[in-house]
Amino acid sequence: MKIAVFASGTGSNAEALMQAASQKQLGGEVALLVSDKPGAGALDKAERFGVPSIALAPKNFATKADYEAKVVSHLQEHGVEFVCLAGYMRLIGSTLLNAYEGRIVNIHPSLLPAFPGLDAVGQALEAGVSETGVTIHYVDAGMDTGPIIAQEKVLIEANDTREDVFRKIQEIEHNLYPQTVKQIMETKVVGGDGQNE
Ligand code: GRF
Repeated sequence: MKIAVFASGTGSNAEALMQAASQKQLGGEVALLVSDKPGAGALDKAERFGVPSIALAPKNFATKADYEAKVVSHLQEHGVEFVCLAGYMRLIGSTLLNAYEGRIVNIHPSLLPAFPGLDAVGQALEAGVSETGVTIHYVDAGMDTGPIIAQEKVLIEANDTREDVFRKIQEIEHNLYPQTVKQIMETKVVGGDGQNE
């Protein structure tokens, strides 16, 4: 299956997905990297893996629907059937959701439904919890609200700094995301409803 990875930032998760695909460990091919931030580190990483990329700044479009329609046309041009959000800092709108219904997943650095939205690690530290984690979920119109596919816990120890927690979370993310995508590809459970295709 052809997969697109969406990233706004450094793209370490995008890199983990491309790395797994290059070793035939993703159950699919990363056919396109999409960024909403021209200059994002993820774009360089795509180039290193020989993965085509596009960077479109939403501010250059009149509406979110126009922006997403352009993204969808690129996805279709590359034969993309499945989308992995990897640090894509934007809510998915109805244009993209309708085109890829049940075929968009996201990775979030908390045990959802706890700490959705921005700075999930900061939120966990602020709340003083002793564990947080990583969640992979299907994407719906809400902020980090779709059906959960996989979760893994991370312990927050007494002396952990913010950087310590980030490091532990990223270590887990870089394994859990490729593994989970591979499972989805193998079972072809793409609807988020547990039904095989
Ligand atoms: C990850 O922590 C992911 O869970 C969140 O955004 C971060 C992206 O990091 N959605 P990177 O750009 O993949 O390094």
